[in-house]
Amino acid sequence: MKKYVIGNWKLNPATQAESLALAQALQEIGQKPNTNTLQVGCSPSFIHLSTVAQTLKTSPIWVGSQDVSALGATGAFTGDVSAVQVADLGAKFTLIGHSERRQYHGEDDKILSQKIINAHLADLMVVLCIGESLDEYQSGLAFNVLDKQLSVLHRIDKNQINANKLIIAYEPVWAIGTGLTPTLNEIEKIHTHIKHYLHTQYGANLPILYGGSVNDKNAHDIANCQGVDGVLVGGASLKIDSFSTIIQAFS
Ligand code: 13P
Repeated sequence: MKKYVIGNWKLNPATQAESLALAQALQEIGQKPNTNTLQVGCSPSFIHLSTVAQTLKTSPIWVGSQDVSALGATGAFTGDVSAVQVADLGAKFTLIGHSERRQYHGEDDKILSQKIINAHLADLMVVLCIGESLDEYQSGLAFNVLDKQLSVLHRIDKNQINANKLIIAYEPVWAIGTGLTPTLNEIEKIHTHIKHYLHTQYGANLPILYGGSVNDKNAHDIANCQGVDGVLVGGASLKIDSFSTIIQAFS
């Protein structure tokens, strides 16, 4: 299966000039991977999306957004940005349901299912993020929580979902930005579980990415885990040398 290395820039960097510099540096390294086997991507903030998409226009690197509106393609929805608008700028994908969106913006299954529908209507690849909290992990509830989060797909009419444009990112909340990661054995077990669940529930064989404190030191080991089809990288995607090493690990 094709591998994916995607950077989530979150609310970084502060200036357009810094985003431009990061995109230019990415363009240099982005020429190397074979896109038949490895897709590299980055998701800047909405405000820098246009600049980054322009910079990477002729590069094989995908640009994506970190979210899309659950409301309309256009209309009286103050402050929202639609899937149609980001697709128009050249975005190929969007993250949906990142734990920071769930936590700080109260995004629930009703909202998330509408976002997935809107993204697919705009022909965007969806990277649906799921992951358990530390409490849930310590209580041995990770599998139940992940199954519940994946069941958001049940809310969507089969005609409105495009399994060829769906990627799952497993990001344990307790591993995000903490320097902590599950053991390699745990990552393998969880990815196998997610693949099995999606196969039995939806007959789908989707790429499953791991996210949470991926860096230049652990990328190689994670890349060798069974069932890991790539990574979603936060902090280390803002450092071009680290991100380049992570790309190498999946090449
Ligand atoms: P970190 O790589 O900074 O832990 O963030 C992971 C993440 O949230 C990617 O979406």
